[in-house]
Amino acid sequence: MKYIDLRSDTVTRPSEKMREIIASAEVGDDVFGDDPTVNELQEKVARLFGKEASLYVPSGSMGNLVAIKTHTNPGEEAIFEEDCHSLNYEAGSMGAVAGLVSHTFRGNHGVMTREQVEPYIKKKSLHTPPTTLIALENTHNHAGGTIYPLEEIKKLRDMADEHGLKMHLDGARIWNASIATGITLDEYGRYFDSIQCCFSKGLGAPIGSIVIGDGEFIEKARRFRKMFGGGMRQVGILASAAIYALDNNMSRMSEDHENASFLAENLAKIDGIDIDLESVQTNIVIMNIVSSGKAVPDVLSELKDMGMLAVQFGATKIRCVTHLDLDRADIETAIEKFKAVFSS
Ligand SMILES: Cc1ncc(COP(=O)(O)O)c(C=O)c1O
Repeated sequence: MKYIDLRSDTVTRPSEKMREIIASAEVGDDVFGDDPTVNELQEKVARLFGKEASLYVPSGSMGNLVAIKTHTNPGEEAIFEEDCHSLNYEAGSMGAVAGLVSHTFRGNHGVMTREQVEPYIKKKSLHTPPTTLIALENTHNHAGGTIYPLEEIKKLRDMADEHGLKMHLDGARIWNASIATGITLDEYGRYFDSIQCCFSKGLGAPIGSIVIGDGEFIEKARRFRKMFGGGMRQVGILASAAIYALDNNMSRMSEDHENASFLAENLAKIDGIDIDLESVQTNIVIMNIVSSGKAVPDVLSELKDMGMLAVQFGATKIRCVTHLDLDRADIETAIEKFKAVFSS
């Protein structure tokens, strides 16, 4: 059965054209720095964000870890939003591998403010783990693909400068934020010491992420990538897909955003489904079904039997994500399937 797969934007498959590009990519040994396609991708992305350099890595999780490990020392403290991906879905790497103490704050739609976090920044002393880094997530996955307001990012940057903190962005879906707001990648790049972005989500490439920063930072990061087993060889075959995705699949993300709004508005009309429409800002829709009295696994199983996939996202919540392998007709069909499940 061909499913309407709304589990994630990571489920997309490379198009025929992308496969052709992959097949004809020029390659070399990237651990020696010899892969021309990887070098082209790294230069292109650094330029897009107005930074000196970037480093191709296998995954977003490795990108966050490499970047944060490069900025910090074990026993230091880093500030994260409570529901961020790095702390909750990356297998504990920030503690287990980077050796960090995490101080978390509850964000509003994933957004922590300067007023909220500044009083808790710790100075170096005999007793305390000094705070040395703040990490943001834009868009924020768990909050529903929400966008970090630029004004808040600027205030946090000022705070970071005043207290000597590094600022990292988990920009797995920064492309979506940029397309939705019109704020350029280069503008976002100005406020962070490092950014991690994924090609394997809304952009539709099969694998790969990238860490962006200044030249010295990236040279240091290269060593940690090697330490974590992320040094790859003729990986231009994958980098070529990322270049193709950047050139062809970014501006069309507005379709995914329109589809997500359409899905959310229609699902919100169904009895038993509650959606915070304010949180639907890009390609993610999170719904709470507690008022229906139904159990999430039962709903997901019924939807699956009807040819539709979504994921559980907390005890009473379901997440749907729109992406380039789904068109408006698929979304209309998905709405009908939800109606059928919730009317029974
Ligand atoms: C916000 C965010 N950051 C990082 C990641 C990690 O990416 P990967 O699955 O490539 O490790 C994800 C994956 O879904 C994510 O949503």
